[in-house]
Amino acid sequence: MKKEYIKPYIRKQTAGVMNKFGVSYNKGHREEIEGFHIGDFTEKFGSPVFVLSEKVIRERYRKIYSYFSSKYPKAKMSWSYKTNYLDAVCSVLHQEGETAEVVSDFEYQKARRLGVPGKKIIYNGPYKPLESLIVAFKEGAMVNLDNFDEIIKAEEAAKKLDIKASVGIRVNMDTGVYPQWSRFGFNIENNNAFNAVKRIQHSEYLHLEGIHCHIGTFMMEPSAYKEAVKKIVQLMRRIEKEFEISISYLDFGGGFPSKNILKGTYLPPEVAIQPVENFIDAITDTLLEELEPKEYPEVYLETGRAIVDEAGWLITTVDAVKRLPDGTKSYIIDAGVNLLYTSAWYNYHVEIDREIHGAYENSIIYGPLCMNIDVVVESAFLPPLPKGTRLILSPMGAYNMTQWMQFIRYRPAVVMILEDGTVEQIRRPETLQDIVGPESVPEKLKRFQF
Ligand SMILES: Cc1ncc(COP(=O)(O)O)c(C=O)c1O
Repeated sequence: MKKEYIKPYIRKQTAGVMNKFGVSYNKGHREEIEGFHIGDFTEKFGSPVFVLSEKVIRERYRKIYSYFSSKYPKAKMSWSYKTNYLDAVCSVLHQEGETAEVVSDFEYQKARRLGVPGKKIIYNGPYKPLESLIVAFKEGAMVNLDNFDEIIKAEEAAKKLDIKASVGIRVNMDTGVYPQWSRFGFNIENNNAFNAVKRIQHSEYLHLEGIHCHIGTFMMEPSAYKEAVKKIVQLMRRIEKEFEISISYLDFGGGFPSKNILKGTYLPPEVAIQPVENFIDAITDTLLEELEPKEYPEVYLETGRAIVDEAGWLITTVDAVKRLPDGTKSYIIDAGVNLLYTSAWYNYHVEIDREIHGAYENSIIYGPLCMNIDVVVESAFLPPLPKGTRLILSPMGAYNMTQWMQFIRYRPAVVMILEDGTVEQIRRPETLQDIVGPESVPEKLKRFQF
């Protein structure tokens, strides 16, 4: 067989930063996802296309919930809508038994539309319009308040309904991980949280039911959860004693990491990311140490990315190959930062759809946007990719399909591989009508001539 000609190139040698862990983990190629050929996805649904796996979502959820519930008797999980609120994804998790955790009136309405009863919704977030609080109280949602102005707003909503509404408070604290997430909720150490409870308990229209926190996201250190549990149990004890009430739920939010590659980390995620069990142990072991069985409250987790991130891939196609003036190899693909908000902090795993021989080199992967910021992967160690090669970027399931923006290009299809072995489109590609639908042009601007 005639050997394929590969154009030689001269590469300037630079010492670079010493890295004893080796160059890269981008050496793989992948021809299929769960038995479906990569090319079949793009042929049928276009390129780029997001692919989600029902099986992986269920597996990840079950792994976390079964361990959590085996370690604590009143374990509950609530799906963090903002992580991925596509109807099909939420439906899989609701079928598994997860309630809905929302942070806006829009997400609240989305959960209700899917059939989640108000009583099974946790309503979090720093901004809750008055009207949405009225609906949430009327429907019996768990509302976690963020600040003193919101306590007053919640009081007004309950007064309008003439009820005494149950509320929770979100708290923040020093868990030994910096920078500390202190902008959400009431601080424990400076007594803000206790004062908030005082204000609630003195209100004619509110009473305290629970305590909520979310200490950060992509947390690498389980001991931070241990600290959070200790401080929250201490606060709970103080509240119960002072106001003679019993707290019925504690909610430790989300924050467990996925196997994504955080920029700036040397070690591959298989080594750098601790198993989810270690995080659950930190929470449940501390709870069991600190509490008497008769006082066990319900304990919620709102785990987002650790459930869904690894259940998603993006298939995208190389549209052009370019060498930059400094010699760097670069590729232009058909998916950009408009779809990949998380590219700001992750170095995605990059796989190619075929085996390609030739010298590997560090390459930049640009998106299709006419914007300098549109860099999808700053440095991927790749063989020479011909135009038309499909790249499979992962993990993709968390935060991209909610934080994507309509900028310059349409958003593409999202498909789900179902457990019955079929593939279904769960969000069609956008069309011009989806974007111009809400727009209107004032009458006097309707005519122009060149
Ligand atoms: C209140 C709350 N709960 C849960 C989550 C989910 O977090 P993660 O995806 O890190 O698990 C978030 C995300 O920011 C959040 O703000």
